Amino acid sequence: MSSTRSYGEQHGVGGLNLSALLRPLYWAVWLDPRRRARKLLQFARVEGDGGRDLVRAAELTGDPMLRRKLFAHARDEARHAALFRARGLALRKTVAGGAGDPGMADWMAPGERGLDDLRVDRESDASLLAFIHLSEATAARDFAHYRSVLGHDPATRALFDRILRDEESHMRYSLAELDRVAPGQRRWLLWKARLRRLWKAYLRLATAIAGVMAAIILTAQYFLLLPPFALLARRAARREAPGWIMRGPAPAKEAGQR
Ligand SMILES: [Fe+2]
Ligand SMILES: [Fe+2]
Repeated sequence: MSSTRSYGEQHGVGGLNLSALLRPLYWAVWLDPRRRARKLLQFARVEGDGGRDLVRAAELTGDPMLRRKLFAHARDEARHAALFRARGLALRKTVAGGAGDPGMADWMAPGERGLDDLRVDRESDASLLAFIHLSEATAARDFAHYRSVLGHDPATRALFDRILRDEESHMRYSLAELDRVAPGQRRWLLWKARLRRLWKAYLRLATAIAGVMAAIILTAQYFLLLPPFALLARRAARREAPGWIMRGPAPAKEAGQR
């Protein structure tokens, strides 16, 4: 079973020193115990969702060996969800106040994405395995980063250490299964899965940008369009005489009807 360090070495995380550049940001994200608790609880939800998707995929596949592997994987993800939840709740008890402002934290430390809203009933075994392999590789890389900046919280660090070993084993079994169910197609299937993940990432980014743009436009409208109307309303109000206004006599037709 490979260690956290071996993953970094194998995938050039350390060699490129990208993790070294991002390290201060990861450190800042994980420093605040309230935010830490909130993120762990968020990870628990995602891992739980991922486990349920894997159970569904296991039910759908016609390959008995793959079904066994997917059920074992689903059990791991359910255990991760329970571990993250327990640690998140324990951390939350130690801090007063709210859940912590997410700010940039969600973008900087997204954690495992489960199956990224994949419709497992529409996937072939091979395309599902390619997607699982990439998701697990990303989770293993991210968890290795988070673990490296959690020296100030040994319990959470140990949790990531433990879960990371499972993610690495998920990464390996999914690749081995991909080679078994679709021999010779690994490269193409992984590229296809990469492009789909890229598209989903683009959609998430576009949604986030649209949210920011909407906030800017609505704020600009509030400050640019509303003041002239407020000014006109105030001028009209000044022309009105103060107090009660006496009405003139009722029109003749109205008076006749009474
Ligand atoms: Fe997991
Ligand atoms: Fe996993």
